[in-house]
Amino acid sequence: MSKPRILVTRRWPTAVETVLAERFDVTLNRDDIPLGENELRLALSTYDAVLPTVSDRLPAAVFEGAPVVTRILGNFGVGYNHIDITAAKARGVAVTNTPGVLTDCTADIAMLLLLSVARRGGEGERQVRAGDWKGWCPTHMIGTKVTGKTVGIIGFGRIGKAFAQRCHFGFGMDVVFFNRSPVDPSEAARYGARQLASVEAVLAMADFVSLHCPGGAENRHLMNAARFAAMKPGAFLINTARGDVVDEAALISALESGTIRGAGLDVYEAEPNVPEALRRMENVVVLPHLGSATEETRTAMGMKVVDNVTAFFEGRDVPDRVV
Ligand code: DGY
Repeated sequence: MSKPRILVTRRWPTAVETVLAERFDVTLNRDDIPLGENELRLALSTYDAVLPTVSDRLPAAVFEGAPVVTRILGNFGVGYNHIDITAAKARGVAVTNTPGVLTDCTADIAMLLLLSVARRGGEGERQVRAGDWKGWCPTHMIGTKVTGKTVGIIGFGRIGKAFAQRCHFGFGMDVVFFNRSPVDPSEAARYGARQLASVEAVLAMADFVSLHCPGGAENRHLMNAARFAAMKPGAFLINTARGDVVDEAALISALESGTIRGAGLDVYEAEPNVPEALRRMENVVVLPHLGSATEETRTAMGMKVVDNVTAFFEGRDVPDRVV
């Protein structure tokens, strides 16, 4: 029997590409440049499986206008809001993701951002690199202490929990969170956290607000002008979730007006475009979507995709099937 034909839309860790090549008839995108809608439409009418990433946009239009032969999209990532899963399902295309393996590394990046904005890490590093540091003095680059402060988490899934654990047990912070569904208080306590009834209740208490909910329609612009205004004066926003959870224009206004004190961002509304206003502000730390970017995690993500796609073509239960 011939091997399933698979398109891998970006370069993956070598170890994973090797396993893929052993199991499937693989086409790699050697240029490692995101594919456009027309290329993705063509891919869906050519390959048995397409393995996309967050940099490939698959709206409903990509599933229309040409016959679809692809039977599975094995997404390299846990978030899949770049894929219209309703359209995929309607065309009989299964979609899988990679939950679990990027939890710690993404929570680490959220912690890195929290510490960087609180202690002015990016600003300080830029000053030293520019040769502008004039030496130690009692009033130089004063930040804010994190121990004893309150962190408010929006979305208490795997990553939200891992972040809570770091904040509470590692840094002595109080942790409150909002989650759409109730979390058993004893489960929340395992992470040193307490559930509140609304996003607003969290915003009113938190010195740092960290987003850990999925992107896509349900949470689009969850952080809007009204919610920035509802944040505690002098609070910071951390976003390692998805860019569209934040209304970026409203964030810029809130930062410019001093409604909030700073922001630590790993994700943006129109990646890789980061608004110039955000890049310019010293109280904003901007990272290039590094949440899962460790050798161990990217390899584990790739292996998870391999497992999902292998199970699918062998007719077994697919571990991380979304639709
Ligand atoms: C994820 O897994 O969702 C990361 O953000 C990369 O896509």
